[in-house]
Amino acid sequence: MKIKILTLFPNMFTEFKGESIIKRAIDKGVCSIEIIDIRQYSHLKHKNVDDTPCGGGAGMVLKVDIVTKAIRENANSNSYIAMMTPQGRQYNQEIAIDLSKKEELILLCGHYEGFDERIRAFVDDEISIGDYVLTGGELASMVVADSVIRLLGDAIRKESYEDDSFSTGLLEYPQYTRPIDFEGMKVPEVLLNGNHKEINYFRKKESLRKTLKRRPDLLNKYSFSEEEIKILNEVKKEENF
Ligand code: ADE
Repeated sequence: MKIKILTLFPNMFTEFKGESIIKRAIDKGVCSIEIIDIRQYSHLKHKNVDDTPCGGGAGMVLKVDIVTKAIRENANSNSYIAMMTPQGRQYNQEIAIDLSKKEELILLCGHYEGFDERIRAFVDDEISIGDYVLTGGELASMVVADSVIRLLGDAIRKESYEDDSFSTGLLEYPQYTRPIDFEGMKVPEVLLNGNHKEINYFRKKESLRKTLKRRPDLLNKYSFSEEEIKILNEVKKEENF
């Protein structure tokens, strides 16, 4: 997959590209990340990219002519263009999985007061990473790129994301590693006995327990097996739900 990030702050991505799973994915050729400076598409004397809002008001607005030039010069018929904005649809794992199937992803980052409204006509999608306002779309684009890249090819082993929170529709079960006893807090016995049937049962039960307690809304969308309904009922009894 090709990921292109259109930004006014290309330096923000240096560390992002150079670390961990992202770096490994790039080195292995699973994906490429190209950081494109929107400012280079400015025809103005001081390479300005923004202007004052029509009708007045505070702040500056990103110019439609410059941003669309940046889009047009970098997009092709396979590009899926997503604008990072708090006005977008709320990002989640389902969208990450969807985006991971695209051939080329262009993530457009804004800054200042926002985008000229007409820029919206040139993108396929608008994504918000949550109900809060960042100083720009850069961090949001890293969130999207990170969550997409970890799903690609062998960026990580498949088993390690199949059980992810949200991939299954439930929150992930609790994980432990050595030491077995830390200041009196012990790893559950069942995880130490090598009985995979019991381990799977424990994990499913704890995954259901966590989801019930923290994100009961997810259970409304989940399609339960008969076995899972039984386990959930057990959990509800234990938790006095
Ligand atoms: N730009 C500013 N805030 C944002 C948010 N919450 N999500 C995506 N892009 C943004």
